[in-house]
Amino acid sequence: MRPTQPVLFFDSGVGGLSVLAPTRALLPAMRAVYVADNAGYPYGTRSEAEIAARVPALLGRLVERYTPRLVVIACNTASTIALAAVRAALDVPIVGTVPAIKPAAQTSRTRVIGVLGTAATVRQPYVDDLATRFASDCTVLRHGSATLVTLAEAKLAGRAVDQHAVAAELAALTVQPEGERIDVIVNACTHFPLLDAELAVAAGPAVRFVDGGPGIARRVQHLTDGQDFTPAEDIAVFTRLDDAARALTPALARHGFTRLELL
Ligand code: SIN
Repeated sequence: MRPTQPVLFFDSGVGGLSVLAPTRALLPAMRAVYVADNAGYPYGTRSEAEIAARVPALLGRLVERYTPRLVVIACNTASTIALAAVRAALDVPIVGTVPAIKPAAQTSRTRVIGVLGTAATVRQPYVDDLATRFASDCTVLRHGSATLVTLAEAKLAGRAVDQHAVAAELAALTVQPEGERIDVIVNACTHFPLLDAELAVAAGPAVRFVDGGPGIARRVQHLTDGQDFTPAEDIAVFTRLDDAARALTPALARHGFTRLELL
């Protein structure tokens, strides 16, 4: 293992930065390659078949090019659909991002939790399975939102966030016909923690949000325990170079990514 060998973070867009940031906080010397598959964005409205074919194929090319020590699929949609296939296809440790239903259930007082993800994520059997295993005594309500993904990308591109749109998306989850009171919401899309301030305002003080970022950071730290890290230039990779990608470069630069490449 070379000490400059990177950890590769993969997402459809900039949502994976919400996983990269806590990982970097634990491993400051980590060299990172951050991949935004912006040519495939948004994943949340694509079919399972498209994601299942696209993600392993792209990761195969990325692993060959960057020889990472570890890959983090920093995207719930890609992980809940393609994690097993990626693991089977690639000879490198893969960490996936799946909805943090377990910690939500451990801390919910009302025993009603919300899962806020993309439409593709919230309908996955993977989510049913997590709910059965870890939240069997909770009511698990779900909402799939493409709007919040768009708003998060726009925020990182420097545009103002429409707070009414955030509130409307949240209300679709929290305002229930039977009056169930959600007290914990799982941010089951890595884009959504990028809107943490806006979501907190919309939800009010009675609701807490959890996401997978801190747990993944600890997992990466554990898997790389004892390995040497020497800082080296971080690389951000797009799958298409267009104006939308260029608009995200200041946000990537704030996370240390000044070198851009095209896959
Ligand atoms: C998206 O591209 O729709 C977001 C995917 C995700 O982070 O789950």
